[in-house]
Amino acid sequence: MRILVTGGAGYVGSHAIRSLARHGHQVAVYDNLSTGHRFLADGFELIVADLEDATQLSRALSGTELVMHFAGNAYVGESVQNPRKYFRNNVQNSLTLVNAAIDAGVRYFIFSSSCAVYGVPDKVPITEDTRCQPVNPYGETKLFFERILDAYSRAYGLRAVALRYFNAAGADESADIGELHNPETHLLPLALEAAAGLRPYLEVFGNDYPTFDGTCIRDYIHVTDLAEAHALAVEFLQGQSGGGFTALNLGTGGGHSVQQVVATVEKITGHSVPLRITARRAGDPPSLVADPTRGQQLLRWAANRSLEETVASAWKWLNSSKRQTIS
Ligand SMILES: NC(=O)c1ccc[n+]([C@@H]2O[C@H](COP(=O)([O-])OP(=O)(O)OC[C@H]3O[C@@H](n4cnc5c(N)ncnc54)[C@H](O)[C@@H]3O)[C@@H](O)[C@H]2O)c1
Repeated sequence: MRILVTGGAGYVGSHAIRSLARHGHQVAVYDNLSTGHRFLADGFELIVADLEDATQLSRALSGTELVMHFAGNAYVGESVQNPRKYFRNNVQNSLTLVNAAIDAGVRYFIFSSSCAVYGVPDKVPITEDTRCQPVNPYGETKLFFERILDAYSRAYGLRAVALRYFNAAGADESADIGELHNPETHLLPLALEAAAGLRPYLEVFGNDYPTFDGTCIRDYIHVTDLAEAHALAVEFLQGQSGGGFTALNLGTGGGHSVQQVVATVEKITGHSVPLRITARRAGDPPSLVADPTRGQQLLRWAANRSLEETVASAWKWLNSSKRQTIS
């Protein structure tokens, strides 16, 4: 089917479009390249335009059966400093997109949500029934748009899925594409850059959390496993009848501490990672780990790649000729 992928020139989206192509779909990428990169969509139809442009959107949506919506802003700290930017892009512009999609007769919608919708959960692993109480504007925007999709699916017969990612990490095995955020805030690329001597140290925000080694625990999911879940979510939606909204966690179900990630980076790269321990960041929960059972059952999927494989793929990407040309 023809799928319009917003944000397909970004990190997660660029892996997903390759997975969709492997599943035989016709993919068009819609991206304003604000944080994305043209080369990440190489080989795909690319429409360079902004979500707020309803005219471009309705043109791009012609003949589209499914919208996969990755485009958005995703820096938690920036969302606290500049909530206006986040509500505008992640909610208002997403609303423009879904309205245009409904008007164009699109039946299926897949949305990149986040574990940030849960805030600081009472217990881990986190199921989808955990109360959603975001603790920053970024998480609020994701939850807000999920609620829009829920209402639209009831009223207009849209079949929608919100995929709540935990921590996406790693890179495609080809090392032709990978994570390239500027600024980079994610632990794994920062740790690898410190190992490679590209930055003087890795900053660790707090080592006095109530976890087994005092550092925060997160659920790191290989981006290729994440991408595959998107292709399977297409099949899941096609198998549904009538409108409906489903939220699914995408994680491995296993957590790793910052110290464990650092140890794995040191093992894979053979280099030590200099650390600088600083204060905790406001709103950082000690542990965020998915209970991925519902997604495993409904999508017939599981995130199988290990932390070692994830780190090794990100290391290969950091050292790849493609990555070196870009930076
Ligand atoms: N990376 C993670 O670990 C993670 C975790 C949870 C959720 N998410 C969500 O997944 C999605 C993708 O994340 P990512 O890490 O790939 O980010 P990214 O910044 O690499 O990709 C976002 C893409 O959207 C495009 N974009 C942004 N605003 C746009 C607009 N108004 N019009 C057109 N294009 C626009 C950017 O140019 C970029 O290519 C985001 O919605 C993010 O909130 C990511």
